[in-house]
Amino acid sequence: MLKQTDIQKTLSAFKPENFVFVISIDKNNKPNGMVAAWKTRISGTPPLYALALGQSSNTYKLIKKSKEFVIAVPNKSMEKAIKIFGHQHGDEIDKFKESKLTTIPAKKIKVPLIKEATICYECKLVNTIKTGSCNLVVGEVVVAHHNKKKKVILVMGKDKEGKRIFKEF
Ligand SMILES: Cc1cc2nc3c(=O)[nH]c(=O)nc-3n(C[C@H](O)[C@H](O)[C@H](O)COP(=O)(O)O)c2cc1C
Repeated sequence: MLKQTDIQKTLSAFKPENFVFVISIDKNNKPNGMVAAWKTRISGTPPLYALALGQSSNTYKLIKKSKEFVIAVPNKSMEKAIKIFGHQHGDEIDKFKESKLTTIPAKKIKVPLIKEATICYECKLVNTIKTGSCNLVVGEVVVAHHNKKKKVILVMGKDKEGKRIFKEF
């Protein structure tokens, strides 16, 4: 039977959840990135993606300036990097150095791809929209890259200690 419950807890109960790495660059072309689960396609033609990024995240601030970003879909080999990219801030550490993830040049934008990722989308910023604690970042996918030998990792929920459980499909 459906029962009325706590909104925040019930929003988090909608699992499994997929997520991406969002890569940006600073004025010296140094890359940073974050993990984002709040994202969706919002148009087929043109191909648009929307990301809800925290207003204070370094990634959001960098994308506002450079007007470009990469969406990278992770797999199991990137599991360790999720902690670094999803919990640490790019103005405090070099996440690529820390995680040992490899960057490779993109085709149409200055922001690099993640070599280890399953899919990478090169995006050009179309719009930002003020929402709540996050701002919506809308980008047009201008180039797509796919390593079809690799799978995609999802968040299945949390264990008893509150640690995220990841599974690859
Ligand atoms: C699984 C997961 C999903 C996340 N999803 C989002 C998200 O959708 N939006 C967001 O703003 N932060 C999200 N975060 C948190 C950011 O990745 C985190 O705040 C990051 O440290 C920001 O880095 P930056 O300041 O270098 O940009 C998520 C973290 C994890 C682990």
